[in-house]
Amino acid sequence: MREGRKWRRLLAEGHMRRRDFLSLAAAATALEAKGSGAATTAGAAKEVYPGVWKFTLGTPEKITPAATRRYPPAASGLAALPPVGACPVPVSGMATRRGYLVRAPLEPKEIVYGLGLQLQSFIQRGLKKKLRVNADPKMDSGDSHAPVPFYVTTRGYGVLVDTARYATFYCGNQRRKPERPRPAAVPKDPAGVAPNDLAVAYRRYRMGEPGEMLVEIPQAEGVDVYVFGGPTMRLAVQRYNLFAGGGALPPRWGLGMWYRCKSDYDQAEVLKLAAEFRERRIPCDVFGLEASWLSHAYSCSFTWSEKFPEPAAMARKLSEEHYRLNLWEHAFTHPTSPIYEALLPHSGDYEVWGGIVPDFLAPEARKIFAEFHEAKHVAIGVSGYKIDECDNSDFTGAWSFPEVSAFPSGADGEQMHSLFGLRYQDTIQGIFEKRGMRTYGLVRSSQALAAPYPYVLYSDLYDHREFIRGLANAGFSGLLWTPELRNAETTEDLIRRLQVVVFSPMALLNAWYIKNPPWKQVNRQANNAGQFDPKWEETEARCRAVMELRMRFVPYLHAAFVRYRREGLPPLRALVMDYPDDPQTWRIDNQYLMGDGLLVAPVVAGEAERAVYLPEGEWFDYWTGERHAGRQRVTIPVPLERIPLFVRAGTLLPLAEPTQHTADPRSWRITALAYGGGTVAGTLFEDDGALDPGLTEVRLRWDGAGNSGSVRRSGAGLGPRYEVIAWKRIE
Ligand code: GAL
Repeated sequence: MREGRKWRRLLAEGHMRRRDFLSLAAAATALEAKGSGAATTAGAAKEVYPGVWKFTLGTPEKITPAATRRYPPAASGLAALPPVGACPVPVSGMATRRGYLVRAPLEPKEIVYGLGLQLQSFIQRGLKKKLRVNADPKMDSGDSHAPVPFYVTTRGYGVLVDTARYATFYCGNQRRKPERPRPAAVPKDPAGVAPNDLAVAYRRYRMGEPGEMLVEIPQAEGVDVYVFGGPTMRLAVQRYNLFAGGGALPPRWGLGMWYRCKSDYDQAEVLKLAAEFRERRIPCDVFGLEASWLSHAYSCSFTWSEKFPEPAAMARKLSEEHYRLNLWEHAFTHPTSPIYEALLPHSGDYEVWGGIVPDFLAPEARKIFAEFHEAKHVAIGVSGYKIDECDNSDFTGAWSFPEVSAFPSGADGEQMHSLFGLRYQDTIQGIFEKRGMRTYGLVRSSQALAAPYPYVLYSDLYDHREFIRGLANAGFSGLLWTPELRNAETTEDLIRRLQVVVFSPMALLNAWYIKNPPWKQVNRQANNAGQFDPKWEETEARCRAVMELRMRFVPYLHAAFVRYRREGLPPLRALVMDYPDDPQTWRIDNQYLMGDGLLVAPVVAGEAERAVYLPEGEWFDYWTGERHAGRQRVTIPVPLERIPLFVRAGTLLPLAEPTQHTADPRSWRITALAYGGGTVAGTLFEDDGALDPGLTEVRLRWDGAGNSGSVRRSGAGLGPRYEVIAWKRIE
């Protein structure tokens, strides 16, 4: 054994302590006894689905994201993707005294993305990330509400390290020392390949040289690693999402506007604000209640408080006004909860906020939790949940359960933290699936293989640029993210934030700490003191216009989600995913694509103009209709009413009538905008709303030569139908 000889030499030469030698030798012997043959397992890959390879390295743990998953891979979706040749990257592993180490090579100029909801960095190559579940991380350390041990590279493949441990990813930032002395090399920027703004990164991270991805997994004696072939980055992500089970398709109402009321609101206040929104024509599909609906929150009782004496009547009233009702909660169960006693044996050995922590890996805990929620909430009209506090707390007062916790399922606290958000989503999914309903909700933590869950991540952080980066980043890892709006610094800040919110997976105003809608007063203290901005009606009108823009895009966004479900294609994506061969896109984390035809370039408060990079093709300014050639940066003025939007030539953009909610029949009336000359086509889907939705494909086609538009349906369609009320050509 080569390794053995090396250790013996190091020992003889005095470079290794005898104690270390003995423990390494013992570990190697143990591995040999397990049949691995050597400390290093050069993994043999097995193609488990077309274009998906599995490396079983050492002895994987029993509790992992894949082993505890709810949804099976979407086999037919995977089979429908274009074939890939051989496994695109070799992976090997070895046991270490610290756990297990996975290694995969990186080529020069191979850029790495992903690792979950990383709000502070975009390109991951050159960085060290410890994937620890945490609320509100302060640094770019890898801590995240939703760290995902999955990365994807510009060479067009993805890698999932199937672990619930806090794995550390060294993304090509480490170099082994040479076997023999060698002259110091001065790394060069690869001329002609790296654009100027990448040059620094190239030097610092030696991206122009071959590198290595090192993944250290504590505790484990082995791990399964999945490789997803492309050959493009976009296809690799699609394969990963299909392997997860396919992307979520929210119900149509979930794509409308969301408003969450202040956390001390009572029933009367909720109904009053709901009525006011309808009177004042504020678009809103979903009303969310924060903690006050609970008789005890922090920890939670899951029973209604005295502030809500008639929850069923309230839910009915809201539903008559075409609102859906969403409830905030977390899982830590208070002693006054009717399910406390039943859950006690099926919970972890530590408390959080005086409540017990249900073991969501155990079917018994899931059943007790779900049955109660179904009977007390869903049965009376609750359409979904915001499942809060399911991450961890190293930066926010250390309120959560410790890593040394033990759960009846066999998980320790570290594994449970990694999986808590996912398996909590499973528990709630069980309710809606049993009732044949679709839901859409919020979750504060997620991890690997999350694409099928109709849940959107959010955060108490609030840096606007980071929130925008989240939109570009989340799509690499099968996650949905909302850059929610709360209060604001100024009216400008309010409008700029709202504009980004409406071009996101969930258009959420989270007014949990302000009594009045933010357009009445952006300042938190003044808002709560009831001091309205003298110009609030003007601001309200501006906000209404932005929210109406969202309502216009609902059919288009819904169609993008249908592709997420069927093909695993994220509805929102970083530019590099679609244009990996264009180095200018590699670092762009402040623009993103929504669907195939729309490029969104958000503006943050204080910017008077915006430089936008337009990739290959031709692009039309949504607001002015001006045509721009691609592969160039344009600088445009950004009046406050406008978030820069560019439509790719060849796009048929279907815009709905702006309505207050998606139940309004006018929301099915479409103006079809045909961008560019010639024939332009696009697809919408009529959705019957069922759990396994009946989707009628509606093909809209503008015939440039004949100067006419046509609509073709495949399938009968059960629900309401789209109707094109106008065609417009933009050339
Ligand atoms: C936080 C959550 C906020 C809000 C608040 C209410 O944990 O992130 O959005 O719900 O709790 O207490």
